[in-house]
Amino acid sequence: MNNFIFQNSTKVYFGQGCVKEYLSCLAGKAETVMLAYGGGSIKKNGIYDEVSGILKKAGKNIVDFSGIMSNPTYAKVKEGARLAKESGADMILAVGGGSVMDCCKAVSLAARYDGDIWDDFWARPGVINFEPLPLGVIVTVSGTGSECNGGAVITHEEKKIKTGRDYPKLNPRFALMDPAYTYSVPEKQMVSGGFDTLSHIMETYFSEPDDDNVSDDIMEALMKSVIRNLRAAVKNPADYTARSNLMWASTMAENRVIKMGKRCDFQCHNMEHQLGAYTDCNHDCGLAVLHPAYYRCIYKYGLSKFARFAENVWGIARGGRSDDELASAGIDALADFIKEIGLPSTLGELGITDKKLLKEIAETCAVSAGGYKRLNAKEIYNIFISCLK
Ligand code: NZQ
Ligand code: ZN
Repeated sequence: MNNFIFQNSTKVYFGQGCVKEYLSCLAGKAETVMLAYGGGSIKKNGIYDEVSGILKKAGKNIVDFSGIMSNPTYAKVKEGARLAKESGADMILAVGGGSVMDCCKAVSLAARYDGDIWDDFWARPGVINFEPLPLGVIVTVSGTGSECNGGAVITHEEKKIKTGRDYPKLNPRFALMDPAYTYSVPEKQMVSGGFDTLSHIMETYFSEPDDDNVSDDIMEALMKSVIRNLRAAVKNPADYTARSNLMWASTMAENRVIKMGKRCDFQCHNMEHQLGAYTDCNHDCGLAVLHPAYYRCIYKYGLSKFARFAENVWGIARGGRSDDELASAGIDALADFIKEIGLPSTLGELGITDKKLLKEIAETCAVSAGGYKRLNAKEIYNIFISCLK
């Protein structure tokens, strides 16, 4: 196991009714709360009324910051920071999924910084030697795990770059997680979020070191749980147990616990982020298309781990199979599962067919040093091309 330092500063309040029980107290001494959300789902499902009602009862001024889009842009971050400064907000409450939480993490930084946060903290790693505006989150759709880390993925539209940085100082102070809040998430979005969780775990699992380590064992249990509970939630969207397990697995995948001692790959995320920067495709659908193709390209470099994945996660008996055959069967099982839950398997299904564009995306894609094989632009392009059919 590699050496590591572990810390996670976010305090989690999990379970049905947690917002009613704790929000008022968590809003503490803040006088003005910037209530941030997306395109309006929380107004339809009653979450907005519940949250704003609690804040009003606690005597808070509320400033709405609405319309945070999926794949939040740097322009939106600047809009939020302006609003936070002008309104004198002393707390941000992000109510939504990864896009709202990520945008608000960047806003919390920009609201307390005079320079350009893209240049100083996203284009390259920076040092946060000041206190960002306090941020709390209420999760309404699970999958990214953004609630328990300092990661924020932002798209700079003009520069055509979508990139994430993880700053521990941007961890939300608290995360309220009520699985019942996710009942209204449409099935397509629910399975997408579940697949994002699975992807985060796989991107960590398929990286060295592969000697006996706690992280790999936890990850196998988590992957099996995500697969089982996604199937249950598709069957019955109001299955509280399934929604709870999906929500907590999503946090566990990204709260740094499973990454301890591992190098971590995230090459599939690098490829998807760059696809997203150029085409604004859905993060999870992009991952669903890319994962099997990426693994077919690299599995020989981590053969025994891919064989272990087939046996321990998908329950495929070795029989008379060689490592190569077993590893391939595991990747096939992953591809079949993606189809079973209704996620796309080709770039065409995402409306992406332009080979010239794919070449440009491949050439501008970040390359991870943490996986079994360091890809070059040609290999990335070939992966994209194999996803066209
Ligand atoms: O915008 P509204 O109207 O609220 O609708 C949203 C949105 O359309 C809807 N939704 C949310 N809660 C709902 C609901 N619909 C009905 N009922 C509810 N309770 O869900 C849709 C998707 O929301 P979004 O936040 O965009 O999705 P997700 O949570 O998948 O976040 C995606 C973003 O997170 C980034 C991605 O790159 C992408 O930008 N990521 C962040 C990570 C992190 N910070 O650690 C890691 C991930 O790998 C990922 O890259
Ligand atoms: Zn992701």
